[in-house]
Amino acid sequence: MILSIESSCDDSSLALTRIADKKLVYHIKISQDEEHSTYGGIVPEIASRLHAKRLPEILKKLKTFLNNDLSSIKAVAVTTRPGLSVTLIEGLMMAKTLCLGLQIPLICVNHLKGHIYSLCISQDSTKDSSKSKKAPPPLELPTHIKVEAKDSLGVLLVSGGHTQILQVNNFNHISIIAQSLDDSFGESFDKVAKHLNLGYPGGPQVEHYAKMCQSHQYKPYEFPIPLVHNPKLQFSFSGLKNAVRLAIQELPQPLSLQDISRICAGFQNAVCEHILRKTRLFFQHFEGKYFAIVGGASANTHLRQKISNLCNEYGRELFLADLEFCSDNAAMIGRVGVEHYLRDEFTPLLEAQIAPKSLKGDFVESATF
Ligand code: KG4
Ligand code: ZN
Repeated sequence: MILSIESSCDDSSLALTRIADKKLVYHIKISQDEEHSTYGGIVPEIASRLHAKRLPEILKKLKTFLNNDLSSIKAVAVTTRPGLSVTLIEGLMMAKTLCLGLQIPLICVNHLKGHIYSLCISQDSTKDSSKSKKAPPPLELPTHIKVEAKDSLGVLLVSGGHTQILQVNNFNHISIIAQSLDDSFGESFDKVAKHLNLGYPGGPQVEHYAKMCQSHQYKPYEFPIPLVHNPKLQFSFSGLKNAVRLAIQELPQPLSLQDISRICAGFQNAVCEHILRKTRLFFQHFEGKYFAIVGGASANTHLRQKISNLCNEYGRELFLADLEFCSDNAAMIGRVGVEHYLRDEFTPLLEAQIAPKSLKGDFVESATF
C-alpha cells in the first residue's frame, strides 16, 4: 500500500491506497474551515500550526486502522507542490520521518495532478466492480502509448489556488492550455463571501444564497462578464470581484437577505458564464472526446450544469469526481502516488523539497493552442 499525505493548504489528510488494484483502502481528513472563517481566508501561520498538531493525530488513527502493523506500507507519497510553503513543509517532514523509520521510498506529488486523478478514485468498499468508478481513459493509459488528439482528455481545474484548462494525453503528458491572469475561480467566491461577511470557504455560502435568489424569484444583480471581448484562452477574476465590492458599497447597510442573495446570484452567473465562454472557445480547437471538471470549486452545481450542457452540445463525455474528493484530500495524492510507484519514480530523502509553484517538468509545453 501507499500511505499518502496532503497539507498544501488548509486540509490535513492521510490515505492508504492499495498498489495492486489502485483502490482506496482508508481515508481521513480534518478541515480547518472553522479556524479560518473569522478571517475570511486562510492564515498560513495558523494553517501550519494546525497541520503540526493534526497530522500526528490522524496518523495515530491510521495506525489503529492497521492494528499498528505498518509493514504493508511500501512507500509514502506526499504533496510537495504547489501550495503554501509553511503548510507543505509539515507534510513533507512527516513523510520523510515515516520513510526513514520504515525504510521505504518517498514519492513527491504535484497537487494539481492529484486533483486530476481524483477522477479515478475507487473505494475498496465498492466490492461490486461494475459499480467501480469509470475513469477517463487517458488517465489509465501506459505512458509509452502515443495518444491521438481525439482520444485526449480536457480538464477544467477550478480550486482556491488555480483556474486552468489542461489537456491530458497520459500520466506523463499533461499540458496547461489556459490559466488565470490574476485570482482564481474559487478564490473569487471566497472574496465575495468575505465582502458579504458569509465566512470561509465562500463557495458553498455564495452558492447557497444564489439558490435562494432563484427560489424566491428575485432578480439577480447584473455584473460584467470578465474578458468578454478578449479572444484569448485565459481567465480573469479581479475585475469582477471589484465590481461586486463596489455594488455592495452602494447598497443600504446592513444588507438585506434579498440583496445578499441577488449579489451572490449575479456574481455566480457572471463568473460561471466567463468559464463557460472560455471553455466553449477551448472546445472549438480541442478534438478530444473526453472532458472533466476537478478541484474544490467543481462542486458548484451551477457550473456543473453549464459545462454539462456544453459537453452535450459538443458531443464530449463529461467526467466529474465524487463530491467527497473534489476538495483537497490525500486519496487523490495516493492515487497519483501509485502511478509514480509503478514507474519507479521516487525522490531521495535528501533531495526532496517543497515548492510553492509547479516544477518545470510537471507539465509539458503546449504546441496545439
Ligand atoms: O481544491 P480546494 O479544496 O483547495 C485548493 O486547492 O485551493 O478548493 C477550495 C476552493 C475554495 O476557494 C472554495 O470556496 C471553493 O473551492 N469551493 C466552491 C464551492 N465549494 C468549494 N466554489 C464555488 N462553489 C462551490 N460549491
Ligand atoms: Zn486543491
